[in-house]
This record gives sequence, structure tokens and C-alpha cells, in this order.
Amino acid sequence: MTARYAVFGHPVVHSLSPRIHAAFGTQLGIAMQYAAIDAAPGDFANALGAFAASGGLGANVTLPHKERALALCTEASDRARRAGAANTLSRLNGQWHGDNTDGAGLVHDLTERRRLDLRGRRVLMLGAGGAARGVSPALLDAGIGELWVVNRTAERADALADALGEPGRVHTRYWADLGNLGAFDMIVNATSAGRSGGIELPFSLAGNRSLAVDLSYGEAAVSFMAWASAAGCEHRFDGIGMLVEQAAESFALWHGKRPDTDPVFASLSARADSLQTAD
Ligand code: ATR
Repeated sequence: MTARYAVFGHPVVHSLSPRIHAAFGTQLGIAMQYAAIDAAPGDFANALGAFAASGGLGANVTLPHKERALALCTEASDRARRAGAANTLSRLNGQWHGDNTDGAGLVHDLTERRRLDLRGRRVLMLGAGGAARGVSPALLDAGIGELWVVNRTAERADALADALGEPGRVHTRYWADLGNLGAFDMIVNATSAGRSGGIELPFSLAGNRSLAVDLSYGEAAVSFMAWASAAGCEHRFDGIGMLVEQAAESFALWHGKRPDTDPVFASLSARADSLQTAD
């Protein structure tokens, strides 16, 4: 029987993960099925159980199930526990083991593909939800100098800072104070605001050497990327690179080999370019 893998989300119909994993499998000659399974929040545990019963060996988990996925795991990696969420599940001895490859995916994209040095950077994290929690530990581990967490709801920023447990490097500020924080070397948009009209940000956050990264891609990243361009940020990336790299990390966990991500990244980027230039 062909090994079975899947991504669970809600909605999940637009997920690029099936296409990415199929490309990795072809590249490395690994036969497998990779499906997209839509499960409403109340049905996720049952759907995952049914998948395991039918021989499912591994699952990616996306919005809105990442926290619940961690809770359903018998064991979890340190980075999944620190993120409070799992995006990669592996079936071992009849139980789910949880991991989180989002942060490693982001850092790999920035340091390996883009050849950027993150060490010592003054970093602004916009947002304190699941996406921010997923990547913050990896950024700290990559050696950034300071992490300033600013969220519309201040309590969530404080909760993230507490969970990160590095009071010397991690600070929080109110959203209303964004104009008074000076310029950052790196600005990460981890809000979901781009899915509902975008956010307004002061240009004073950006210096001319700044790196701006949106964890979203496609339409959801358009407004932040436009702001970063208008603000004069030197480097501007949406989340396609992170998406491909987190998939490669998951693939390596399941199959023991890390694929070459360049061809898949190139094909997804070309597609995004053609969509953006299409009339
Ligand atoms: P995700 O897993 O994508 O991070 P989430 O956990 O729902 O999803 O978090 C969404 C994040 O986007 C939160 O930080 C949210 O701020 P609140 O905690 O105040 O809700 C942020 N967000 C969503 N819409 C926003 C907007 N219009 N302006 C600023 N922040 C916004």
C-alpha cells in the first residue's frame, strides 16, 4: 500500500502543500499519497483518528488546528512545545508525535536561500497569535539581538513574551506606540490582517537596510509588501519561501531525506508573479 500523508486545515482547498510534497516525492523517487483533508474545528480529532486508522503515517496541520494538534500528540519536540502548536505529526508505534517546522522553515529561507545574517538584528514582531508563536523561538535561536512583540491586543503580546522566557531580549509595546519605537532591522508581519484589508503602519519602523517578511503569501501579503516597498525596506519577502522550507523540514522528518527546495520555490514564485501581473 502506498504510504499516506495529508494536510489538515479549514479551509484547506487552496493549500499548496499537496503540490509541494508531490514535487519533493517525485524529485527523490519516494512513492506516497498526500491529500488535503478539510476538517471543521469540532471534527479535527475524529478526522485525524480516521486518517490514522486508514494507515496515515504523517500529517501537516494548518489553520486553525495547530494548537489542538499539539494537544492530541503523545509526545512533542521542544520546538513544538515552545510554539504551543504543532504543524507536523508523525505516526510512530500507534501514537502521534508532534513537531513544529515553521520557525526552522523561516530561518532556513532567510539564512540559506536569501543569505541574510540574522544575528544581532533588532526585530519587530507584528502579531502574537499562532504564526508569531511558531516562529519566535527559532528567530531567538538564530541569534537575533532583540525581539519587540507588538500586538493589537496587548495581553497576547505579554503572554507570548512570557512564554519565550527571555526578558533580556524580548520586549512588548502597545500597538498605538508603533510610531515611537524607532527603526528595526527586521519587521515580521505575523498578523492575519492582510486577509481582511491590511494594516496601516508608520514608515518610521523601516530603515533603508531593513528586511520585511510577511508570513502570509499571495493576496494576504500584498498590503504589507506594498507598505515595505513604500517605506524603503531593502529586502522584502512574502511567506512562500517559508512555506516551501517548512514543508522540506516535514518531508525530511517523515522520509529521512531533505529535498532540494529550489525548483519548487522557483515554480511557485513564477506562478505568483504571473498571477500578479495577469490582467
Ligand atoms: P495566526 O495563527 O494566523 O497567527 P491568530 O492566532 O488568530 O492567527 O492571530 C492573528 C493575529 O493577527 C493576532 O495577533 C491578531 O491580533 P489580536 O491578537 O489583537 O486579535 C492579529 N490581527 C488580526 N487582524 C488584525 C488587524 N486588523 N490589525 C492588527 N492585528 C491584527
